[in-house]
This record gives sequence, C-alpha cells and structure tokens, in this order.
Amino acid sequence: MEPTQDFSELVERLTHTKNYRELDLSFIERLVSNAAKASSDEKEILKSVKHAIHQAVNAFRVGEDSYRDLAIQLGDHAIHDRPVEERQLYAADFLRRHASSKERLPFIRRYYQEIFSGLPPIRSILDLGCGLNPIAAVSFIPNGRDLHYTAVDLPLDLVDFLNDFFQFLDLSGTALQGNLLNGAPDIDADLTLIQKIIPVLERSETGAGRRVFDEIRSPFAVVSFPAPAAKAKRSGSAASSVDFETEYDAILSASGWDSTKLRYPNEIVYVLKR
Ligand SMILES: C[S@@+](CC[C@H](N)C(=O)[O-])C[C@H]1O[C@@H](n2cnc3c(N)ncnc32)[C@H](O)[C@@H]1O
Repeated sequence: MEPTQDFSELVERLTHTKNYRELDLSFIERLVSNAAKASSDEKEILKSVKHAIHQAVNAFRVGEDSYRDLAIQLGDHAIHDRPVEERQLYAADFLRRHASSKERLPFIRRYYQEIFSGLPPIRSILDLGCGLNPIAAVSFIPNGRDLHYTAVDLPLDLVDFLNDFFQFLDLSGTALQGNLLNGAPDIDADLTLIQKIIPVLERSETGAGRRVFDEIRSPFAVVSFPAPAAKAKRSGSAASSVDFETEYDAILSASGWDSTKLRYPNEIVYVLKR
C-alpha cells in the first residue's frame, strides 16, 4: 500500500473525530505527515498526532464544548456606550474562556496600557494564533473600537464566534481560519500580535515559530512568551527545553527591530518597532 494512501486514511479518521472536526485540515495533514517521518506504526502516529493537537489547541479551551455557544452571551451591542469598568467586566467574561487570555486577566489593564503607550496610534491589528484575545478590543486595547482587527486561529467554532462578535458589536474585524505551520498570512496591518504562540508552533513543528516571526511585515509587533522562565518543550530536538527569552534576546539584538521588553507575572513581552 502506498504511504500517501495511509496518510489520507488517518487524516480522514481524525477529521471525523468529535474533538478535531473544527480544525483546519492542513494542520492535521501536516501533523500526520510529520509524525509519519518518525514512525511507520499507525498507532504511534495517531498517539503522537492526538498529543500534538491537544498541546497546540484543545488544551486552551476552558469549559465550553463549542465557542459558537458563546455567541448567545454577546448580549447588548450598546456595550460601547457603557462606562469603561462595565466594558472591562463584559470582555473579561469572554476572555476567561480561553486559558491563555484567562491567565492574563489579573494584569490585563496595565498590560495593554503599557504596550500601547510605547506605540503610535494603531489603525489595524493582525492577531496570529489569537485565541479569544480580540475580545480585548472592547475595553482593554486602546482605540479598540476604531481600528480594523484581523484574527487568525485554527478551530472553526472559535473563528465563527469571533466573526459573530465583530459583527454583533459593530466592530471592524474579520476572523480567519488559518494554519500558521504554513506560515503567516499575507495581510497588511500596522501591528502584528504574536502572543504566546511561538512556543506552541515550535512544539508542533521545529522551526515553525521562528518562520512566523521572520514573516512579520508590519512596522510594529508585539511578541510574547509564557513566563517566568519563558521555557517550553520543543518536540523533536535533542535539548527538550529551550529558553525562548535568551533565544529571542539574541535574535532581536541581531535584527533590525528596535525592541522594548516588558515583564508580567506570567508573560514576557517584546514591543517591536522597525
Ligand atoms: C498560547 S495560545 C495564545 C492565544 C492568544 N495569542 C493569547 O495570547 O491570548 C495559542 C493559540 O494558538 C492557536 N494555534 C495553535 N497552533 C496553531 C496553528 N498552527 N495555526 C494557527 N493557530 C494556532 C491555538 O488554537 C491557541 O488559540
């Protein structure tokens, strides 16, 4: 039997599994193809792909089975006219449904104030591996109501919910299903957000996080890593633990970016200007 036939059978089986049916097909194909390079045993490949999907995507879901179900809670689209405290509570209620934005909530006000205080007025954002972060445009991201937001992530239910969110709250924004293992999308923006996604991409495929970083085309960028150690496992490499802070300090000092580093209780942020 031809190896390619084996792969398509496996991919087919995975795409019909409840937990994976919202995912971009190219993502599953890529993980299967990578796993098949390390083992020809079908059980091993399946196990490795399921583990990789969990680490990259499903581990971040908090509570809800489907993000689509959150649309019913969007409620009052006059939220923009409410006091800032009310808008912050509204946004926080959604942000806590994704592990990545949930752990940012204790300091999110200061986080976005400090990041944006170092930037000129931003008219458009490209948020790569966005999770539920676009919801922060309602209250935490300065000028969030007036800028154009493009959000990219893998699960279609998340993308559908974010499009409902932009539409219902009358925000200028689009969410797209995209697989960053194929590189960054060809979209112009003033500011690219790459928050806590590089270690996730590196775990899925060595070199994938760095590729997306190298493909930033906007004049400004925010690149962040989980703290305190900013360490994360990188699969497939002999050294299993990589210190992303040391690595990106070196990458940035040799690059054309002017960079400012900010520290938060569980996140290290680089604010970059060309
Ligand atoms: C650590 S979370 C970061 C979320 C958001 N950037 C934040 O900081 O709140 C990683 C996100 O990347 C998404 N993701 C993982 N692999 C991806 C890929 N290959 N392409 C696009 N998105 C991906 C996951 O679904 C998840 O929402």
